[in-house]
Amino acid sequence: MDWYAIHGRRLPWRLEPSPYHTWVSEIMLQQTQVATVIPYYQRFLARFPDIDTLAAAELGELLAVWQGLGYYSRARNLHAAARDIVRLHDGQLPDDRAALLALPGIGDYTAGAILSIAYNLDYVAVDGNVKRILARVLDYDREIDSSAHAAELASCARALLPSGQASAFNQAMMDLGATICTPREPCCQTCPVVRFCLAQERGIQEQRPVRAPRKAVPVREMVGAIVEREDGSWLALRRNPQGLLGGLWEIPMYERRTDDNMPPDARLITALAETLQLEVTTPGTAWLVTHAYTHFRVRLTLFRCMAQNMPVLSSQDIWNALRWLNDTDMPSHGLTGLTLKALRAVHAQRNALL
Ligand code: ADE
Repeated sequence: MDWYAIHGRRLPWRLEPSPYHTWVSEIMLQQTQVATVIPYYQRFLARFPDIDTLAAAELGELLAVWQGLGYYSRARNLHAAARDIVRLHDGQLPDDRAALLALPGIGDYTAGAILSIAYNLDYVAVDGNVKRILARVLDYDREIDSSAHAAELASCARALLPSGQASAFNQAMMDLGATICTPREPCCQTCPVVRFCLAQERGIQEQRPVRAPRKAVPVREMVGAIVEREDGSWLALRRNPQGLLGGLWEIPMYERRTDDNMPPDARLITALAETLQLEVTTPGTAWLVTHAYTHFRVRLTLFRCMAQNMPVLSSQDIWNALRWLNDTDMPSHGLTGLTLKALRAVHAQRNALL
């Protein structure tokens, strides 16, 4: 903690670590790097400065601010939790672990982070950084991804926690993990706890923590279209709120079997006609856009098309609304990451030609 007092990072959510600020930042920081989060955090707080504003907002506005940050269920849970907090807790984030855990999107880690950072209560917040540091310091040789082993490391963290200083302790661990005890090539020369570190003493710090082997992620082949009208606007569909990426807008796209004999443009034209009763023409140039999700990767073969008639949303299974968007509409419509990449690919070329 002496090291943290000097070298701790000056991060926007640390300026005033209120329960709301801590909660929003911790949700954004799940699976996401600090540098990516900072501008999103600032835009989010400018738009939703407190829980009441967040609870009163439309989910669509939240998704638009979240656009590009990924893992959109976080935004949906934040919104649902804000409404619960207003309804059940008088608009105040609870300082009670069970009450926090009952809110959507708050698990063990986030509850510990809020209780310690915002309320300075004696709880640990054990994320990947903390597990890595402890696995090195203790030369813990079992793989840290199993829940039993993670629980063992969590009890080590609790044993180390200095009572009354959980806020500084947990944030010191986070910063040590992010800046010194990094996954690869840790900076042991400048590490404040090197004299306690068994893995470094044994020269095996890069072999700790032991990780479960990664499973190969399946690749999904898709075809998609930027369907334009004469005025340059393009067709966007809103994904059904229940499913993956629910409530976000995207261009029409369809999964394609790897043994599909039909060429991708023909497959696309058939699918647009079947699902949207939409006829298009396409010059036939294709782009390949790839995107990684947690459990699969997508390879999207993309075409630029001209609409020949008005599309009709008949089945509401995948999409529940349809709209023609142009560039000025974009800030109010959260787009999926894949759609953003597709638009950039096609518009980069369009602008180069103009
Ligand atoms: N990663 C997760 N939570 C964090 C925090 N509060 N500060 C810095 N990095 C973090």
